[in-house]
Amino acid sequence: MQAVGDYRRCRGATLYVTLEPCSTHGRTPPCTEAIIAAGFHRVVFGATDPNPRHAGRAVKVLRSAGIAVTCGVLVEECTELNRAFNHWMTTGQPWVVAKFATSLDGRLTRRPDEPQWLTHPRARRHAQQLRARVDAILVGAGTIRADDPRLTVRGVPGARQPWRVVLTRSGRLPTRARIFTDIHRERTLVYCGQSLRAVLRDLGSREMVSVLIEGGGDVLGEAFDQRLVNEVQCYLAPLIVGGPVPAVGGAGVPSNEARIVLEHSCFERMGQDLCLQAVVAYPPR
Ligand SMILES: NC(=O)c1ccc[n+]([C@@H]2O[C@H](COP(=O)([O-])OP(=O)(O)OC[C@H]3O[C@@H](n4cnc5c(N)ncnc54)[C@H](OP(=O)(O)O)[C@@H]3O)[C@@H](O)[C@H]2O)c1
Repeated sequence: MQAVGDYRRCRGATLYVTLEPCSTHGRTPPCTEAIIAAGFHRVVFGATDPNPRHAGRAVKVLRSAGIAVTCGVLVEECTELNRAFNHWMTTGQPWVVAKFATSLDGRLTRRPDEPQWLTHPRARRHAQQLRARVDAILVGAGTIRADDPRLTVRGVPGARQPWRVVLTRSGRLPTRARIFTDIHRERTLVYCGQSLRAVLRDLGSREMVSVLIEGGGDVLGEAFDQRLVNEVQCYLAPLIVGGPVPAVGGAGVPSNEARIVLEHSCFERMGQDLCLQAVVAYPPR
């Protein structure tokens, strides 16, 4: 939280937040300082900050400044809203969302002589909202070579452009690709010859809290094989494409017991397409 603009109108007001306000200097000055300076009378927050430097400290700081504090309101709901931050804070790894559009028979691509899109505009607009919520979009070099995607956020007013991250082993990437030449080119990172796990760790150390893996099938397969995906966002199109290349490649699970289950599934119809959003649960090893 940053104290910006005229916040005198907050004097005597109650502040409601999902997460305990921070009380130390990080990317921004402490939220508690801004709250005290603004003259809030009362603060209500949901979940305690898992950051050990903060956990519960805001209550003491605010109360000693004479501000009434109520905490633990709708804890479960607030924790869910903050799950990406909580995951990053406790593991150092970003929260990873695997996002892909597939045909009914689980294929990521259409024939080269056909339009690239599998889904209709409504699903694609929804996917743009998802991009707007993450810190980075990650793809394999195969996707850059095949599609030359922009990997930008479009049609979401005020959205910030996430980092664009590309994995390659060969280093074979077209220098004229849009991600290297457009106005956001400074926000493109290329990792050559590093494991996906190492790349995610590095992104976490750069304070990237959430990463969207957008494919292709090779990288998605590796992400599931290594149990790195936390959430799935899949757009299912009523198409049969056929062919040998599945949406999620990789080695696959070694046994039925090791299968990856999706929990808290939420289905939404988007015109002719269907969107599935779910959290990934990995069985014990
Ligand atoms: N429907 C959708 O939602 C969707 C989304 C994205 C893409 N696609 C489609 O998917 C197709 C591309 O998929 P794909 O499976 O062929 O390729 P991909 O997964 O995009 O890229 C594979 C390449 O990524 C690099 N790579 C993978 N893992 C790596 C690692 N751990 N470290 C370093 N580099 C790594 C390698 O690049 P090098 O070969 O350079 O070593 C590998 O050949 C395209 O046809 C595209 O249209 C569809």
